[in-house]
Amino acid sequence: MSGDLKWNKIMGACLGTAFAILVVQQVSSAVYHTKAPEKMGYFVDAPDEAAGAAEVVLPIDWGTVLPTADVAAGQAAFARCVACHTVNAGGATGTGPNLHGV
Ligand code: HEC
Repeated sequence: MSGDLKWNKIMGACLGTAFAILVVQQVSSAVYHTKAPEKMGYFVDAPDEAAGAAEVVLPIDWGTVLPTADVAAGQAAFARCVACHTVNAGGATGTGPNLHGV
């Protein structure tokens, strides 16, 4: 009967697939060697806060900051914001909301 070998074929296909996967694993691990790093993790070269890094004083002292502020630099920086925001009173809402008075 033709159905007799049906399960043999299915099992054979499964075994063949599993064998092929094992062969690929063995061959690839023989070709590509992976070495565990000596020290795990990624070193970030950030200044040590305990070693006397400059402290940021909050809140900002506007009395000393504002006289040195550069309006032209601010306008230049805001140029990229104009793509989404308007600043005129009652201005249209684009991608971002109108920022009049913000
Ligand atoms: C790609 C578009 C886009 C750009 C560019 C953009 N924004 Fe926005 N902005 C938005 C959107 C959208 C919102 C609303 C976000 C929300 O309500 O969750 C928003 C919200 C804001 C708000 C809050 C407004 C409110 O009333 O809550 C401020 C302030 C703001 N943006 C400032 C800026 C500044 C300053 C820049 C430039 C440095 C900038 N945005 C650039 C899209 C943009």
